[in-house]
Amino acid sequence: PVIYFVTPTAFRPAQKADLTRLSYTLSHVPNLHWIVVEDSEEISNSVEEILRRAKVKYTHLNTLTNPQMKMKFSDPNWYLPRGVEQRNAALEWIRRQLSGASSGVVYFGDDDNTYDLRLFEEIRNVKTAGIWPVGIVGGLFVETPSLDSEGKVQKFNAIWKTERPFPIDMAAFALHISLILKNPKTAFTYNVARGYQESHFLSSLNLLPSDLQPLAQNCTKVYVWHTRTEKSVLSKSNQQRLAEYKNAQFTKL
Ligand code: UGA
Ligand code: MN
Repeated sequence: PVIYFVTPTAFRPAQKADLTRLSYTLSHVPNLHWIVVEDSEEISNSVEEILRRAKVKYTHLNTLTNPQMKMKFSDPNWYLPRGVEQRNAALEWIRRQLSGASSGVVYFGDDDNTYDLRLFEEIRNVKTAGIWPVGIVGGLFVETPSLDSEGKVQKFNAIWKTERPFPIDMAAFALHISLILKNPKTAFTYNVARGYQESHFLSSLNLLPSDLQPLAQNCTKVYVWHTRTEKSVLSKSNQQRLAEYKNAQFTKL
């Protein structure tokens, strides 16, 4: 099965660095289709160049986050949900372009996480919805489900908002494409409390924790880390030039 790796991406000083690193990871993965959705008014040349050089099959889309929902550089990182409209654009693309597909797995892979190549073999094994541990997220070394004696997902070790139906990170799961196609309305939304993006999405696919297929050796291995690239500290003059840099990414080199 093809892995559809969906990446929302937004302009910032480290964007090209993060995407370059991710492109080198993905270039080692066979049978992967990278769906990159820029948070911008048009697709940028700087991102297009990275994709072109990556030796990965890709689709390059864009959609601008509603300005009212867009975080400012100075906002704390948890302030608003990110990538909502971009992931939805990818879902629309998948439903339109792959409407007849009977095989394929969809994964939401952010541009700044760290992916072990062994993750991709786990993703490929997803029958309906797969789950695995994620490293350094939610205040934990490893956020993971715990399994009951029959090997089913029973509970989660999350310590933040434990009342969430699925207290997990976006990087912790992947879905068979047929589940996405069977539920044409399921999408990410701003209409949920902070931290409920994953829970809302999985719940609206009518999944229960016990439906999740535990992968990565029964959720004992960490193959993806929620690394975060630190906000670049810029000189006053470079801060002022940030808008120029932002515009420059659209110009053909
Ligand atoms: C965590 C989760 O790992 C994300 O999957 C989730 O989207 C996010 O929280 C959330 O609560 O919305 P975090 O590291 O805090 O991740 O988020 P970012 O890495 O800053 O953003 C997630 C993705 O959205 C990235 O690929 C980023 O490039 C993109 N993004 C960010 C946009 O498309 N637009 C923005 O304005 C900001
Ligand atoms: Mn991140």
